[in-house]
Amino acid sequence: MNFTQFPRRPYLNGPTPIEAMPALSRALGGGVHLYIKRDDLLPGAAGGNKTRKLEFCIADAIVNGADTIITCGAVQSNHCRLTAAWSAKEGMDCHLILEERVEGSYKKEASGNNFLFELLDVKTMTVVPGGSDMMAQMNLKAEELTAQGKKPYIIPGGASNAIGALGYAACAEETMSQLNGMGLAIDHVVVPSGSAGTHAGMVVGMTGTHANIPVSGINVSRPKDTQEEIVYALAKELAAKLGIKTDVDRSEVVCFDQYVGQGYSIPTDSMVEAVKLFAKTEAVLLDPVYSGKAAAGLIDLVRQGHFQKGSNVLFLHTGGSPALFAYMDTFRI
Ligand SMILES: Cc1ncc(COP(=O)(O)O)c(C=O)c1O
Repeated sequence: MNFTQFPRRPYLNGPTPIEAMPALSRALGGGVHLYIKRDDLLPGAAGGNKTRKLEFCIADAIVNGADTIITCGAVQSNHCRLTAAWSAKEGMDCHLILEERVEGSYKKEASGNNFLFELLDVKTMTVVPGGSDMMAQMNLKAEELTAQGKKPYIIPGGASNAIGALGYAACAEETMSQLNGMGLAIDHVVVPSGSAGTHAGMVVGMTGTHANIPVSGINVSRPKDTQEEIVYALAKELAAKLGIKTDVDRSEVVCFDQYVGQGYSIPTDSMVEAVKLFAKTEAVLLDPVYSGKAAAGLIDLVRQGHFQKGSNVLFLHTGGSPALFAYMDTFRI
């Protein structure tokens, strides 16, 4: 895959580690060997997956002459935190539209990412009700800022367009290069599937490197069929952008939706168990909304015998731990 065709800012400082998780593997039994790709350790304030996507999105903003970034997310959005962080590093203004997906969930004085938005000097935060047309809201903000003489650039929610998803095709290539160097044969990759850029990027990257390693997504909000279609559409767009000759087959896009619980960001018992188990066995901090639910899926699939005994499974840790501090009561019960 040729990433030099696209504008890119250098936000990474080398590959993120791939580590074995022997204690967690033993705790789960079943003879599956679990590994973790530590994208929670990516650079950017408090780390996480959006740094890879923003290398491409913010570079595109800069080549388009922007001086201001507008993006959107939920009230505890990691994507908003990292967009604010990289905008600050680039000397650009950042404006956020925050969607209150759970009624009453926005609190100005909240901890976690919400606190970090302020610290990272976000210029304005506009809170809108759940279900709002976020692109329309961002366009309104862009008009307002343009009228003030600014040059705004809109990054969609989760930076999950074909530009942002390039970051995860690049991550798949990075992962394969590491695995080849380590001589580690991975049989299956498990990723969180939210706004879909991470999942789509990994699927396309595995196709582009001819790795033949299946990637499963664990949903954090939508039903299986809806999410698979979103991931597949983005994967096709991304593959075309990269000029990948091999088609991504619809059957390669697989999502599990049974770990969502009552809905996006609403805690589940299995998420709480997963966060506690990763912390006490591997000293790895997950988050309540994405990596925690994805890890709950991973744990359940291991327990169900979904992966063959003796197989090696790689979990992509996409970060998000600052949100833990907005959910402390959930874990202290
Ligand atoms: C910590 C974390 N993990 C996973 C995801 C999901 O990634 P994607 O939106 O690319 O599907 C997000 C999205 O915001 C996130 O913040």
